[in-house]
Amino acid sequence: DLSTQIAGVKLQSYLMNASGPQCTTFDELKRIAHSSSTAIVTKSCTLMPREGNPEPRYQNLPLGAIQSMGLPNLGYQAYLDMVPALKALNKPVVVSIAGFSISDNIEMIIAFQNSAVDLIEVNFSCPNIPGKAQIAYDFEQTDQALAAITALGNKPIGIKLAPYFDMAHFIAVANIIKKYPVKFITCINSIGNTLVIDPYTEQPIIKPKGGFGGLCGDYVKPIGLANVRAFRELLGNDVSIIGVGGIKSGTDAFEYLLAGADAVQIATSLEKEGLGCFARIEHELKAFMATKGYTQLSDAKGKLKPL
Ligand code: DHB
Repeated sequence: DLSTQIAGVKLQSYLMNASGPQCTTFDELKRIAHSSSTAIVTKSCTLMPREGNPEPRYQNLPLGAIQSMGLPNLGYQAYLDMVPALKALNKPVVVSIAGFSISDNIEMIIAFQNSAVDLIEVNFSCPNIPGKAQIAYDFEQTDQALAAITALGNKPIGIKLAPYFDMAHFIAVANIIKKYPVKFITCINSIGNTLVIDPYTEQPIIKPKGGFGGLCGDYVKPIGLANVRAFRELLGNDVSIIGVGGIKSGTDAFEYLLAGADAVQIATSLEKEGLGCFARIEHELKAFMATKGYTQLSDAKGKLKPL
């Protein structure tokens, strides 16, 4: 039994899709609903529809991927209109919002607060819009944005964080989160503004932003684990934590559980392997836990042992 909860919303299982691949159109979201993903998470939306950045904008790498999609999405109204049909697929619906300003986010959040969505994940960490800084790396803006968006309704609000790499940053962000009724955090987003070079062509391998893009997959797992662990220790058990970053096996998912994740999201494995990744990883996680005599998530959650 891998049942869990995020911000009081019951989930049958521990694994769901991350906002990112294969969750932009209704058909894609319907396929996610029909997979073993325990929730339906939508692609981050903006006020207006977007085509996204020029191609090539996603490339697989031996240990993950690099991407600079640029928020291609149907515009928030399309997702709002889809909510009843998504809810009819009988899984919790998590909407991801990525406004270009606090007022964009307020407008979209008010709309979704008045819909049937279960959770609202506000993306503070998209690294791929030319000229736009990641909110999560600007602590003053993070504080101001949280003050505004946590006062808009009764549905649980969470934030998608960028990866942090300094203990002082973990502490500063945790202290801001504690000032507001933030019900969950999702960490981590891709590591922004990395560069992969093809030495043969002497070019970057993606086109947008001179080749700078978000690093995903195996490369980022230790960073995701550290972020989940640090925030679990700093925030206690009042804030739910969704772990993301490089989960492609049952043991990867188990490591996030030890770090303190209440649930996990999967992007790169979904893109590379397809929808079967959820059932496979769930089965592997159950089998690995069984070898230890663990039957539920609480047997191991947050229980990383000291060395
Ligand atoms: C995109 C990438 C992200 O990492 C994110 O959080 C939101 C959007 C993108 O490029 O589409």
